[in-house]
Amino acid sequence: MAAERTATGILSVDRLLGGGLETDSITEIYGEGGSGKTLFCLEVAVRIARAGKWVVYIDTEGVSVDRLRAIAGPDLERLLERFLLSSPKSLEEQGRAVATACALVRDGKRPVGLIVVDSGTFYYRLSLSGPDEDDARQALSLTVADLVATALQSGVPALFTNQVWRSMREGTLEPLGGSFLNHAAKTILRFDRLSGNRRRVVLVKHRSLPEGTAEFRITSTGLDGGGPG
Ligand code: GTP
Ligand code: MG
Repeated sequence: MAAERTATGILSVDRLLGGGLETDSITEIYGEGGSGKTLFCLEVAVRIARAGKWVVYIDTEGVSVDRLRAIAGPDLERLLERFLLSSPKSLEEQGRAVATACALVRDGKRPVGLIVVDSGTFYYRLSLSGPDEDDARQALSLTVADLVATALQSGVPALFTNQVWRSMREGTLEPLGGSFLNHAAKTILRFDRLSGNRRRVVLVKHRSLPEGTAEFRITSTGLDGGGPG
């Protein structure tokens, strides 16, 4: 049976994804700084809130209201009433925020349409190569497992952004988060910077679609994935 999709509203990406985000699993986005991960999450979140659903947004970057306003326009205050925003200050707090979000989705009192964790690996990265690395890996895995189970049970898609490291040997940008995240996310997208405001989206992994690419442009009001067709 084909998985249900939630459209992102960015047409090129929706075409690449066969209609949108799969609702019963996690979509991971990784890419270098400035590749558009946060803008993408904000754009999808605004679309979901505009459609009348709630958005649980776990933000480790200090999301800017000005950026949100640029995307949401004059509707912002009304849409923010359906945003459940939390700003964890450590990996532990991030885990608690995700657990709270998952409980809220599962209890079904509010119609949640999306969970966002951006950046999902900011605090994890801080622990790498330190004495807490193993604990951090385990904490991140538990958090991701919570999201996987919730998406599967509730049909609420989760967007999880991931930072990158440069492999000197291969000369490539690789996602953090280890192999657990790589398996747990059923859709994996890589965002690449092209010239100017253009960005490429590479479909690295999907359960039912071949690898492929799409493009969007960053504009003053969000992301433009081109017209239909
Ligand atoms: P990291 O969180 O650093 O890994 O980057 P990211 O992939 O989340 O990139 P983000 O979405 O924050 O930014 C993408 C691009 O959007 C940046 O390179 C900027 O060119 C542009 N940008 C950042 N802030 C704004 C803004 O307020 N308005 C507009 N129009 N563009 C912005
Ligand atoms: Mg970001």
